[in-house]
Amino acid sequence: MSPTRTSDVLVVGGGIIGLVTAWRAAQRGFATAVVDPSPGGGAAHVAAGMLAAVTELHHGEQTLLGLNLASAHRYPGFVAELTDLTGHDLGYRRCGTLAVALDADDRAHLRELHALQHRSGLESEWLSGRECRRLEPMLAPGVRGGLRVDGDHQIDPRRLAAALVTACERAGVVFHREWAERLELAGGRAAGIVTRGGAALGAGQVVLAAGSLSGRLAGLPDGVVPPVRPVKGQVLRLTVPERHGPFLSRTVRAVVRGGQVYLVPRENGELVIGATSEELGWDTTVTAGGVYELLRDAHELVPGLTELPLTETLAGLRPGSPDNAPLLGPTGLDGLLLATGHHRNGVLLTPVTGDVMAHVLTAGELPDVALPFTPTRFGARVAPTEQPA
Ligand code: GLY
Repeated sequence: MSPTRTSDVLVVGGGIIGLVTAWRAAQRGFATAVVDPSPGGGAAHVAAGMLAAVTELHHGEQTLLGLNLASAHRYPGFVAELTDLTGHDLGYRRCGTLAVALDADDRAHLRELHALQHRSGLESEWLSGRECRRLEPMLAPGVRGGLRVDGDHQIDPRRLAAALVTACERAGVVFHREWAERLELAGGRAAGIVTRGGAALGAGQVVLAAGSLSGRLAGLPDGVVPPVRPVKGQVLRLTVPERHGPFLSRTVRAVVRGGQVYLVPRENGELVIGATSEELGWDTTVTAGGVYELLRDAHELVPGLTELPLTETLAGLRPGSPDNAPLLGPTGLDGLLLATGHHRNGVLLTPVTGDVMAHVLTAGELPDVALPFTPTRFGARVAPTEQPA
């Protein structure tokens, strides 16, 4: 039996990707609802909030780079719109990033990244160790060189999430503060969901935006189960006391012993250190080993940080996809769309995801910028015989 239609668009998942989708959908005039027990939570609660299209460039991810840059270019206008609308300060800092090397291997790695950035038409500048320390005096004396990327910024993801909740509320989005349990089908298409509490919520279009949990919604036909997996990241938060004065003026990052470490200084004195990358299923335990490795590597970069109070340790789950890029837009099941799989780039990709999803909900097809990110690129389709009527 099909659930009674309660909205035009029903978004499953109230993290930043679900919220921006709901907000933009409501702005387009859709009656929109979000299902999530605690909207504004999810991976954004843990994320450091680097907007690092250039410093996080990887070989083989040139297509993703196009989407990352499209979103980075939207950021100033997106933040201004959201701030004007909600009055929230999002902690957006156009502070730039310095990626540094501590030994010859790191230096070779950074030189290679610099060459890739150059070939990709991106702006970055090679600095000697001395020039790096002139920019950031707290850096270790052993820093051997680095890449200055003025275009990679940061935002506070918790504030972003809170502002998106407010923007959704103001736009008339209805929140169902429950877990979504099962997708409901009717007439060979998605027709809504049933919550864990048993409420049936019908909708014209269902957007699955539940991050790493997106594949776990019951009732998804085999051909449309999103191939997302949890990739654990442990993160630490330290506090720079006011009396200390400036600690770091920009995001500082490095590859140390093959692992990424980054330090993101916020204007409010918070210093976020991240992040491990662990394929351990649904485990979100903060481990002694994870904290040790982050502090050890961060300390090699910035020895003075051991004086700072350690105020928070936590772990979250990135929604990893097979090609590290998001899944956006229609699936092989009519009425079901995806906005998930953003992996390391969820915060960066929030503005463009909102625009893409609003377009596709309205026009029924992806805009050009998002064509490579169709969920159907992984080949699976729903055969008509597999679709329960
Ligand atoms: N983009 C940073 C991370 O995923 O750790």
